[in-house]
Amino acid sequence: MKITVVGAGKYGSTTALRIAQAGYADEVVMTDIVEGLPQGLALDMNQSRPIERYETRVVGTNDYADTAGSDIVIVTAGKPRTPGMSRMDLLQDNAKIVGGVARQVAEHAPDAVVIVVSNPLDEMTALFQKVSGFPQARVMGQAGMLDTARFEDKIAEKLGVSPLVVEAITLGSHGETMVPVPSLATVDGKPLRDVLSAEDIDQLVDATRNGGAEVVALLKTGSAYYAPSSAAAKMAEAVAKDSGARMPVCAWVTGEYGISDVYLGVPAALGRGGVLRVEELDLEPGELDALRAAAEAVRSKQSDVDSLV
Ligand code: NAI
Ligand code: 2OP
Repeated sequence: MKITVVGAGKYGSTTALRIAQAGYADEVVMTDIVEGLPQGLALDMNQSRPIERYETRVVGTNDYADTAGSDIVIVTAGKPRTPGMSRMDLLQDNAKIVGGVARQVAEHAPDAVVIVVSNPLDEMTALFQKVSGFPQARVMGQAGMLDTARFEDKIAEKLGVSPLVVEAITLGSHGETMVPVPSLATVDGKPLRDVLSAEDIDQLVDATRNGGAEVVALLKTGSAYYAPSSAAAKMAEAVAKDSGARMPVCAWVTGEYGISDVYLGVPAALGRGGVLRVEELDLEPGELDALRAAAEAVRSKQSDVDSLV
């Protein structure tokens, strides 16, 4: 199992380390345009192996030849947000970067399953698929795992309970039209609506939509990467182990929820083929409307994103 992480910045390097440390990959390759950066980080990571007791080696490189034949490629290349910026403000710059990466991946790792994380996420996932020409099932984006984790953690903090007893899901876009789903959220098996008021739940939904900006405003120089890298690494593991695990991802939708032909945050089973199937949850009418509105919002931007490359 060979896994490549493109971009050795905050998101890419933490993802590479998490995957290496999980121990199931034979090789993790980390590439970046900055000379010495992936090599130096890889050297440092590898020297933690005797202490942390794992064997997977990280190879740092500036040459796509080293990524040849990768089974999974995670695309983190691109600019992050700084305070006051929306994810959409990154569109022009990151489209050029992700388009270039897509051409390199198509040449050197033509059979890979690809997990895109660069922002704006829904648009960059669509752009990667178009430029690479890969089947839609083999290209997905990471957002829903992170947004779900933020929703769950905010519920846990509000109630003062362990985050491990909270189950929730967040669908839709990784932006304004994100759709946290209160009707399916539970705490210790009890419906969220039985333990929190409608007003409290609305506040948590808003805080979840604002979760990325909240971190950016505090960091000032970039965006979140610990929880985001956990999310991408968990998706890669499901693909690598062909587990069929269901998780919210940005996937190509073909009729599910009455929505077609757009990349959208939905629950999907993941395996060696990438997205094995999109799963349909029993949403309330208002939640379904919100998901359809998210689909239309991202559809218009995704349809002409390849003109930016
Ligand atoms: P960063 O600035 O720390 O790292 C970005 C890296 O990409 C830099 O090392 C840069 O040299 C590299 N890079 C630029 N052009 C490249 C190219 N053509 N090929 C290879 N590498 C290239 O940024 P960070 O924090 O790692 O974020 C990366 C991206 O992930 C951003 O677009 C950010 O908005 C996005 N992000 C997405 C999340 C999600 O949930 N989908 C969550 C957090 C961040
Ligand atoms: C996040 O949600 C900025 O997309 C990034 O943290």
